Order: sequence, then C-alpha cells, then structure tokens
Amino acid sequence: MTPVTCIEDLRALARRRVPRMFYDYVDTGSWTQSTYRANEADFQQLKFRQRVAVDIGQRSTRSTMAGQAVAMPVALAPTGMAGLQHADGEILAARAAERFGVPFTLSTASICSIEDVAAHTHAPFWFQLYVMRDRDFVVRLIERARAAACSALVLTLDLQIQGQRHQDIKNGLSVPPRFTPSSLWAMLSRPRWCAGMLGTPRRNFGNIIGHAKGVNSVAGVAEWTLRQFDPALNWNDVAWIRRLWDGKLILKGVQDAEDAQLALASGADAIVVSNHGGRQLDGAPSSIAALPAIVEAVGERIEVHMDGGIRSGQDVLRARALGARGTYIGRAFLYGLGALGEAGVTRTLEILHKELDLSMAFCGHTDINAVDRSILLPRT
Ligand SMILES: Cc1cc2nc3c(=O)[nH]c(=O)nc-3n(C[C@H](O)[C@H](O)[C@H](O)COP(=O)(O)O)c2cc1C
Repeated sequence: MTPVTCIEDLRALARRRVPRMFYDYVDTGSWTQSTYRANEADFQQLKFRQRVAVDIGQRSTRSTMAGQAVAMPVALAPTGMAGLQHADGEILAARAAERFGVPFTLSTASICSIEDVAAHTHAPFWFQLYVMRDRDFVVRLIERARAAACSALVLTLDLQIQGQRHQDIKNGLSVPPRFTPSSLWAMLSRPRWCAGMLGTPRRNFGNIIGHAKGVNSVAGVAEWTLRQFDPALNWNDVAWIRRLWDGKLILKGVQDAEDAQLALASGADAIVVSNHGGRQLDGAPSSIAALPAIVEAVGERIEVHMDGGIRSGQDVLRARALGARGTYIGRAFLYGLGALGEAGVTRTLEILHKELDLSMAFCGHTDINAVDRSILLPRT
C-alpha cells in the first residue's frame, strides 16, 4: 500500500472501504453544499507570515480545552453513527484519542453506548447531548454521562430541525440498513467492512435502544430519533441543563455574535463556532469566516472553540491565530476510521500534529499558546 501522508489519502481509502451510503453520509453537506465547501475553501484564503532565523529547536503544541490538558488543541467532534464507518467505531476512535492525549466526544446518536465506550477506555471522554422532546430521556442521558465520568457535556444547539442531504435520501440511508438490491451490493462489495460488522453486536443506536420509553425493538429506533429532535429548544432549556450538569458545559453550533453573548450569559464554559460541518443551514458562512466576530464579541470571557473544514494542521493553526482556543475534527477522523479503524484515527492525529508543529515553527513560534493573529498576513 502506498504510504498515507495526508488526510486526503485517508479520505480516498475510506471511500474504497466503506459502503457507499455510509461514506456519502459523511462526505456530504446540505442542499447545494455551498457551506460545506466554504468550510474548507475559506481556510485557504488565510496566508501565513513565514519567519526565519528564530530558534525553533524546542517546541510544544500542548494546551488546554475547557480546562483539560490536550496534546494539541484538537478534539474529536461528536459524529452520529461512527460505528457504521467501521465496526465498534466509537470505541476505536475514543481509544486512539486517549492514546494521543486529545478529547473524544461521543454523540447521542452513536452506535456504541456511553457505558460501552466507558468500559473500553480509561480516560474520561466528553458527551454530546441532543435535546429530545422526551425530557425524561434527556435527564437520564445526563445521569448516564455523569455515571460514566464524562468530563464535559457538549450541548448541540443547531439541530432542532434537520437540513436535507440529498444523497442520503437517494441512497435510502437507514439504521439498521434496509436490505435492497443496491444497499446489499454496496455492503457486499466492501468485504472487510462486512466482516467487521458481522463480528460485532454493535449495529444500532446504543444510547437509545432499551433506554427511550417504548423503544425496545431495533426497527423503531431510527424513526423515534428523527421524531424526537425538539424544535422548541431554547435558552430556557440551556439554563435547565446548566442546572442539571455542574461539570464543564460546552455549547455547540453558535454562528452569530448575538447568540455568543447569550451563550456567555447562560453560564456555559465554552462555545463551539460551528455550522455542523455544513450539514444544516446551507448558505451560512464558513466557520472560519464566522469566528473573528464571535471572538471579538465575547473576548476572553468564555472559551471559544471552532469546527468545520479542518483537514490539516495548518487549518488548526489558522483557527488558533483567529482566536479559537480549541478545534474539533469530524470528517478528518471519520475518514481515518473508515480507512483503517483505530490505526487510521491515530494516523489522522499524527498527520495533523506534525503539520501543526512544523507550520507553527515556520511562522517562528515554539509554543502554540503564544500564537496569535500576527502569524497571518493581512488579507489583500
Ligand atoms: C457524519 C457526521 C455526523 C455528525 N453527527 C453529529 C452529531 O451526532 N452531533 C453533533 O453535535 N454534531 C454532529 N456532526 C457535526 C460535527 O460534530 C462537526 O460539527 C463537523 O463534523 C465539523 O466539520 P468537519 O467534518 O468538516 O470537521 C456530524 C458530522 C458528520 C460529518
């Protein structure tokens, strides 16, 4: 096999190894995909200032995110159904993150359950909460996250309703997969993936089955989940969750300076500037374009994180330069997972780390915490 040297190599390999409907589920955005594309493309507009003859012998990318020490300011973003990119996907990704020293965030819509991930890892992970109409279920989820010693709660605010990804509809994406001739072919043409899936019991929404009222059968879970996203979610609910969870609270999906002020007032510990990876409001600005106004609006009063479009360590550095204390990767680690399982996620992290470290050094810096906007050239 030719060596994997960049995230694009992992994407290409994942495309060959993951059945089409699950690969497309990852590698698409909503409607025209303009925001999905802008997330990546807008990073390229930011040019670095190279410096020379600076002593760059000793360097560190160590930092903190929401009070937690991190080997570099990159966390694994919550992604639904990661366990369908590769058998036991969430457990494998959490292990890779733990070994590397970065946070892993488990989605409410994961395949492996909170308890299962906790049983197969040592380091505390973060839990991402979707607020469902069934508030008793939400309370129980929070209690389960606490019992599993999750060290932060990431509350997603931008999925009260769902953007449409055309390809998921065309592919007939469903959990568990519906067996039509084309879906069967998509799976059977990926024998390595099939072998993994046949060898694991984890093939459905682990946090929901047996936990949500009236959802005990495999078949009803996906419909329940779709029906349950609560369009009524508002800042009073955020205040309610703030009262229920006394650990670190991170609000994900903020794109607007006014919302950032409201997030600050809610008593949260951090916000994530995010457009859900271009999967919700198509036509919204890229996350990296939205970041500076939000940083300006809240200053140092709340930690600002960002995600969307990060495909290299240079992108992490650009985000840091524009004021993001931390970043998250979604697709970059999912490609690694689909391509090579746990080793692929580790490879993703190694690639990003090396690119971040060297690019920081080219800009004349030796400590990621000292990087600021001055490493970027003014826009022409
Ligand atoms: C396949 C996929 C599933 C996702 N599922 C969730 C989820 O369950 N909860 C959530 O808060 N965000 C979810 N997201 C959004 C990510 O957390 C993150 O915001 C986004 O992936 C960042 O963009 P990137 O993929 O370009 O790095 C998902 C993203 C993808 C690609």
